[in-house]
Amino acid sequence: MMKLNWGMIGGGEGSQIGPAHRLGAQADGNFNLAAAALDADPAKGRAYAQSLGVPADRAYGDWREMLAGETAREDRIDLVTVATPNATHYEITKAFLEAGFHVLCEKPMTMTVEQGEDIVRTARAAGRICAVNYCYSAYPMVRQMRAMVRAGEIGKVRLVVTNFSHGHHGDATDADNPRVRWRYDPAMAGVSGQFADCGIHALHMASFIVGDEVEKVSADFASTIASRVLEDDAMVNFRMASGTVGRLWTSSVAIGRQHGFDIQIFGETGGMRWASEQPNQVYYTPVGGRTQIMEKGESGLCSDAARLSRVAIAHPEGFPLAVANIYVDLAAAIRGGSSDGLPLAEDGLRSMAAVYASVASAKADGAWTDARPPMFR
Ligand code: NAI
Repeated sequence: MMKLNWGMIGGGEGSQIGPAHRLGAQADGNFNLAAAALDADPAKGRAYAQSLGVPADRAYGDWREMLAGETAREDRIDLVTVATPNATHYEITKAFLEAGFHVLCEKPMTMTVEQGEDIVRTARAAGRICAVNYCYSAYPMVRQMRAMVRAGEIGKVRLVVTNFSHGHHGDATDADNPRVRWRYDPAMAGVSGQFADCGIHALHMASFIVGDEVEKVSADFASTIASRVLEDDAMVNFRMASGTVGRLWTSSVAIGRQHGFDIQIFGETGGMRWASEQPNQVYYTPVGGRTQIMEKGESGLCSDAARLSRVAIAHPEGFPLAVANIYVDLAAAIRGGSSDGLPLAEDGLRSMAAVYASVASAKADGAWTDARPPMFR
């Protein structure tokens, strides 16, 4: 099968997420890094792209130059990844969709609900895929949990409890470090800090595994370090359309917790739990029975979990290969296959609506607030 041409915007040298995209996109031979505008500094971006093997005429200084250059080519890129800081996602994603490119956008997809709705409409009008990098949903054992819920193996889901709480911004003496400070500054980060940064991964995961949408939220936000305007800790209760109860805690001041993302799903006939720091295992307990540890790579897992695992049982694959699974599904969808499991613009929009609803709820002392995007009500 011919490789697809792939372009990347942001994710330059030293960036946090750039390497995971490059490892992920190229892990399975589906994509070739053909074009890039990697850095806010045009010269650095061009030089770094060329060091990664991008031809000089496709190592662009900025995304507008890349849009014009790629639109004019017959061998134009099939997919562009947007891995720039949050406030730029909307403009870049919209422009590439309108020009007919498929897009994988980093989360959060947009800064507002209105922008999110605009991206959903733009992708639909253009007939292009707009995926959002909720990459944790692509771990094989998360797919296993989703398949078990779909198959009714734990019955109707009563309750979801999820945490995405780390302690890496818990040192008050480091709060003015520019790399930390912007995340809690509304001018840079928007209406929400920690919830928009990490909490939305957990909320997406809950919807993804349960197969249901968040309908309303009741939130308590706190800035535990006094100089912060936006929240560094949040507790968000939610209800899903079918009545499933949700509890979500997200924090950046939970010193001692490292990555800190885990999820528990409790149904009428069983419970399951998964944690990103032990991504190869799902703990499954049938009602009245013993807890079983299900292991990535063992026989009898669902086809999705088997398909998205490359190495033998007990060998870790880890975060970049979860991102790779997003690219596996993207390549299939671009080639005309199913997009089942791919997080799409609709999911990015739902996240933003939940962020705004949680902010409003927190300001109203936790009042229950509709979290559905207006276009889906
Ligand atoms: P970073 O600050 O480490 O890197 C950003 C990169 O984008 C830098 O190379 C910078 O030079 C470049 N850049 C900035 N403006 C640009 C522009 N206009 N054109 C081209 N390049 C530009 O940021 P980080 O942590 O890598 O985050 C980037 C995005 O990825 C954010 O939206 C963040 O929320 C998301 N992210 C997602 C994760 C996930 O699990 N899905 C994990 C970490 C980050």
